[in-house]
Amino acid sequence: MYQALLLLLRLTQCPSPRVDICFRFFTMLPCFLFCISPLFCLCCFLMLPLGFLCPSVCVCVDHHTIDCRDQGLPSLPNSFPLDVRKLLAANNHIQSIPADLFLYYGDLVYLDLRNNSLTALEEGTFSTSSRLVFLDLSYNNLTQLDAGIFKSAEKLIKLNLGNNNLSDVHEAAFANLELLQVLELNDNNLQSLSVAALEALTSLRTIRLEGNPWTCDCDFANLFFWIDENSNKLQKGVGEIQCTLDERKIFLHELSDISFSECKFSLSLTDFLIIIFSGVAVSIAAIFSSFFLATTVHCFHRCAPSKEEDDEDE
Ligand SMILES: *[C@@H]1O[C@H](CO)[C@@H](O)[C@H](O)[C@H]1NC(C)=O
Ligand SMILES: *[C@@H]1O[C@H](CO)[C@@H](O)[C@H](O)[C@H]1NC(C)=O
Repeated sequence: MYQALLLLLRLTQCPSPRVDICFRFFTMLPCFLFCISPLFCLCCFLMLPLGFLCPSVCVCVDHHTIDCRDQGLPSLPNSFPLDVRKLLAANNHIQSIPADLFLYYGDLVYLDLRNNSLTALEEGTFSTSSRLVFLDLSYNNLTQLDAGIFKSAEKLIKLNLGNNNLSDVHEAAFANLELLQVLELNDNNLQSLSVAALEALTSLRTIRLEGNPWTCDCDFANLFFWIDENSNKLQKGVGEIQCTLDERKIFLHELSDISFSECKFSLSLTDFLIIIFSGVAVSIAAIFSSFFLATTVHCFHRCAPSKEEDDEDE
């Protein structure tokens, strides 16, 4: 009943900052209408505070800030004051972000889930997170980021994904994050990362990439060139990043463009076929033209003496 009312509220699009007033109005309305029935009145007045109660394990610092840190929670509490903007839930054992979190708490601006037990982000979790500015998911156990997972969180400015287990970041994982200024991907399990994922971040100012088992192969070459061009954005500098070549760890500043020169000019199969084909074509053309030349010379050779003979006859 309570959840249904919350949902009704969201769907009727009450002006968000004033959502509590709106809620009061909604719950009070039947009271005024049916106040003749004392039982119903009692129900209404009992229900009234529910949406504004602080969960017992958390501290509601002020009207918009809820602190549930260090409580050993296995999941986020069921209900918060509806107009929560800053939710601190670091250092718990939370295993998932409820798929409807942002449906109920669409005013969330700041969500801290650092040091929990998240293993995956469900598609659509952030679909109504259009106010979210700060998201800390560091020190969790995330393994992959799917395409467009944050695409509705278009106001995000800081996204912390450091100290997870990420090995697979889709090239469209950061699609739509045009305001994002800080991205932390340090201390994960990344061997490679598509440059397209980073190029989507047009406002990026700071990035952390160190502490990943990067492999210095030709796949990494593009990222190397990107890092080289954007070295001013690397919070810890290029010097902290290492990549592995033949089981040997190399610091990026020991490498240069020349290290990857083979990759720049590496040929695809089509390039290779085109080169072979044009080689063959040129050779055939050369054979024909020399044959033609030889015939011409031979002809001249044959014709010239007869001319001389004519001269001699004269
Ligand atoms: C993570 O949280 C646990 C308590 O759940 C705490 O003991 C530990 O120090 C925290 N680790 C970090 C890196 O914050
Ligand atoms: C993370 O997940 C892996 C397996 O997916 C598991 O072995 C590891 O213990 C987990 N780590 C934490 C900190 O939960």
